[in-house]
Amino acid sequence: MIKEKVLEALNEQLNFEFHSAYHYLAMESYFRTLNLRGFAHWMRKQYQEERMHALRIYDYIHERDNKVKLNLLSEPPSEWDSPLVALEDAYQQEQHASGMINDLVDMALAERDHATDIFLKWFVERQVDEEARVGGIIQKLKLIGDDRYGLFLIDRDLE
Ligand code: FEO
Repeated sequence: MIKEKVLEALNEQLNFEFHSAYHYLAMESYFRTLNLRGFAHWMRKQYQEERMHALRIYDYIHERDNKVKLNLLSEPPSEWDSPLVALEDAYQQEQHASGMINDLVDMALAERDHATDIFLKWFVERQVDEEARVGGIIQKLKLIGDDRYGLFLIDRDLE
């Protein structure tokens, strides 16, 4: 069994991963309406990844003989002012996820829950990668500014 405190935090993380998935799905719809298929495709991949993260925690909680509690998902935005603003939003979401994972690691160690600490290592690594990937797209978008052709090229790359 997992200690109550750690279980609650894992459960919160699981729900946040579903929230992130939902948020990315809203972004996919936004990019589809702009006919930016590469960005939309990339957002769909993030949606699938976040769901996979949630299910990974879901399975772990059950493996440790506990039960999951699913919460209501909050409504994500449906519009962003520009592709750059949408990606910056995604970046903030990833930073928030990283902060939550780091807090969880601290808690697992403080509670001497080494199994949870080891389980979380994969998430720590994923977050480094995810922040870097979103950050990389933001850098390119900043570089092209208002250049429509540049946007077309980034979109083609992401496809
Ligand atoms: Fe699962 Fe990108 O946080």
